[in-house]
Amino acid sequence: MNNPETFFGGAPEAFASAPGRVNLLGEHTDYNDGYMLPVATPQRTEIALARSHDDQHHLYSGTLDGNVTFAAQGGSAPQGFGSYIEGCIRLVEATGVTVPPLRVFVTTTLPVGSGLSSSAALEVAMLRAMRNLLGFSLDDVKLAQIAQRAEIEFARVNCGIMDQMAASLCDERSMLFIDARTLEHHLVPLPEGAELIVVDSGVPRTLAASKYNERRAECEEASRKLGVKALRDVTDPAAVESLPEPLRRRARHVVLEDLRVLEAAKGVSAERFGELMNASHESLRADYEVSIPELDQLVAALRAAPGVLGARLTGAGFGGATVALCRAGQARQAAETALSTYNKAGRRGRILIPVPTQGKENNEPV
Ligand code: GLA
Repeated sequence: MNNPETFFGGAPEAFASAPGRVNLLGEHTDYNDGYMLPVATPQRTEIALARSHDDQHHLYSGTLDGNVTFAAQGGSAPQGFGSYIEGCIRLVEATGVTVPPLRVFVTTTLPVGSGLSSSAALEVAMLRAMRNLLGFSLDDVKLAQIAQRAEIEFARVNCGIMDQMAASLCDERSMLFIDARTLEHHLVPLPEGAELIVVDSGVPRTLAASKYNERRAECEEASRKLGVKALRDVTDPAAVESLPEPLRRRARHVVLEDLRVLEAAKGVSAERFGELMNASHESLRADYEVSIPELDQLVAALRAAPGVLGARLTGAGFGGATVALCRAGQARQAAETALSTYNKAGRRGRILIPVPTQGKENNEPV
């Protein structure tokens, strides 16, 4: 593995970092102009940056142990971590900022591919590092919007705005209420007396991209049929009953999920928040059909663990991670209990939050 001193031939000129996100409520609502409640992960992606002395951008990822080089004028990076960074550079240039050739050193403690949005963390960290190095002004919402465009236009992932808003504006102690239409946002305290557990199912999200696009298209069709701009505009759940299947169930998930977020954002007890998480998972499983048996089994194991108030899949689904709300002080024990059941069937689940302490089996470097 490269080290920063060798890579930079001295000290870097700027640093920045950004977290991933765990979404607690409001899944598959962002591209329906709806509402969501993510928190930041304690794990972060860090970028060190310096001007390059040639005419190339040089990128290095410590996680992938990979180098990418491309011409600062007119070059492009191959698909992979380089395309996210290229997107950030090109979109900042498009705002009128002159970006010199750069050396970019990336490290992360975020698990890649577990659904905690390591890609949004990479984009937001890169944009912050460029802002620090070059001194241009860019507020945190605009920064999230550029990060989302980098993902859509350069990494070719047709995502909503949640992950980049979360990476840009969330902290670990509060949830961030986001309105995806207006981008209005504010912090909401985590339910009192509770803490979070995040457990990876160990199943890669293979179907996620194709099914994600299919769900987006179904939602667009449902809103066309209902005569609204987006499903966020349907406030009476009864309105979806006229739709043909599967649009009826898809729209029902989105409309009820928005209502769950709006209720939780007003401030509810930890017990009620847990109920809303359970209802969200059931809706994602039965109506939105983005769960898989392994996620259902892990969610069931978490719910059965002492102190757990509610559990659900988090992120797009089809693999990746689950999140549970637990009484304060019981999270690690509850996560270990759930995993001892889930992993019996030969599965490779692992605890992501609370972050395992060094030397424990679950703390493999990512
Ligand atoms: C992925 C996308 C987000 C959001 C979630 C589902 O994480 O990147 O924009 O749509 O799925 O809630």
